[in-house]
Amino acid sequence: MSDSRRFVPYVIGALVIFGLLIAGLFTGSRRLAEPPPEKPSPRPEVETVLEVRPKKLFEFPGNWDQVPKFTTTLFYPGQTSWEWLIGEKHAGSKETQAGEACQSCHARTEDELGRSLATRGDLEPDPIVGKRAAVNLDVQAAYDDEFLYMRLAWDAQDPGAYHTLWRFDGEDWQNFGGPKPISEGGSPSYEESVSVLLDEFDNVRVAPDSKAGFVTGGCFITCHNDMRGMAQGSDGVGKYLPMTRNDDKLKSDDEIRQLLQDGQFLDLWHWRAALSNPVGYGDDGYVLDDRNADTGRVSFSLSKEVPAWMFDEKTLGFKTARLDEMQRNLELFHLIEGKTATTFDSKADFQEGDILPTALVREPEGSAGDILANGSYRDGKWTVVLRRKLDTGNPDDKKFMEGERYNLAFAVHDDFVGGRRHHVSWVYIMGLNREDVQINAVPLMAAQETQPKET
Ligand code: HEC
Repeated sequence: MSDSRRFVPYVIGALVIFGLLIAGLFTGSRRLAEPPPEKPSPRPEVETVLEVRPKKLFEFPGNWDQVPKFTTTLFYPGQTSWEWLIGEKHAGSKETQAGEACQSCHARTEDELGRSLATRGDLEPDPIVGKRAAVNLDVQAAYDDEFLYMRLAWDAQDPGAYHTLWRFDGEDWQNFGGPKPISEGGSPSYEESVSVLLDEFDNVRVAPDSKAGFVTGGCFITCHNDMRGMAQGSDGVGKYLPMTRNDDKLKSDDEIRQLLQDGQFLDLWHWRAALSNPVGYGDDGYVLDDRNADTGRVSFSLSKEVPAWMFDEKTLGFKTARLDEMQRNLELFHLIEGKTATTFDSKADFQEGDILPTALVREPEGSAGDILANGSYRDGKWTVVLRRKLDTGNPDDKKFMEGERYNLAFAVHDDFVGGRRHHVSWVYIMGLNREDVQINAVPLMAAQETQPKET
């Protein structure tokens, strides 16, 4: 073999190595020009669930088809306050102050009233485009030896399954979503909710010597010009009762405590699609000097400046949500303490467009946790069943007794709204096993005995 022939394999080898080097250089320089390819974070396929199923911490021990249904029409109230209602601009002011009920003049005009108040005028300086005038709410109630059950159902414009959010913009976490009205280009995200305000029959009045009270003016006696979101709104106070003020000045702590002891407060139940329902509860509060939570621990905590919690990747396979996934699954993306949530890690690897809820949802404790709730959403309708002990033994709750009457009024926060932007009802009368009322809470044993059960 000649010398030159012996070199051929070496030349070929050198060429191959040279070629590899060139290729390496080429891809190497490409790597310099472009950002390094992302490690694809494998997100688990999100199951499509376009409904919300009840948590079922309890079962209703009867058949709702056998419980009478009362349908009330809730209307949009704008900024109608108690001060406006007893002031010169309201044609019915004298009668309202003298204790004539709103319905005696306004009954069955809810649609009309709501239509006028939803558009710009004296009582709505900042309307929401497309706000509907009225919402129908179906109310049913029943009780057994231990509990009162209430079933509330309404058509929702959007499920409102999630509340306010954080969004990662590639560098920072920014507030995202929020209630309507929202600036152009923004996308609203706010939970749906339903509230019940209740009292013993003809108990809370606007003043000791007045005939006007919750029994005649309903929710409107709790609604004032100096509240959040109202005409002269401050940042602080929510609803309150006129009896807690002396010439607009808050009474002393002792006086307020005395009012609570005397039962001069309104019980306020607030079921929330995102902040209470995911753990199977409704919030229990009361209205007195302010809108207060009952003693104990409420069902949620909100993160303020930056996210405080994220999803637990170890158990779920993801640490953040994506908007399209939240639209496809109305149940999965709640941060639930001890289950789906973990402490937020600011150093974790996030992608632009990652979403986190602002709220941690958790089991409530004490008197604040007196109301269990099965809330379900399907085909555009929310159906919420609440259960509360007839007598909780807590001083911040009303007690239910057979044969007695109660005043009730309702509110629905529908279509991404918070604060004053709800629809509200007139005040109604509920009785436990009474025929002379609008909402008859039926005893469950009797209902089952007198009517044959469906087979
Ligand atoms: C004595 C009859 C009477 C009573 C009681 C009464 N109103 Fe009125 N109210 C009127 C009349 C009359 C008007 C003017 C015509 C209209 O808008 O219906 C009016 C107007 C209003 C308006 C303004 C509607 C608009 O389009 O601007 C609101 C809101 C309202 N009432 C709410 C209430 C509420 C809430 C109560 C109970 C706390 C109440 N009213 C009690 C007679 C009454």
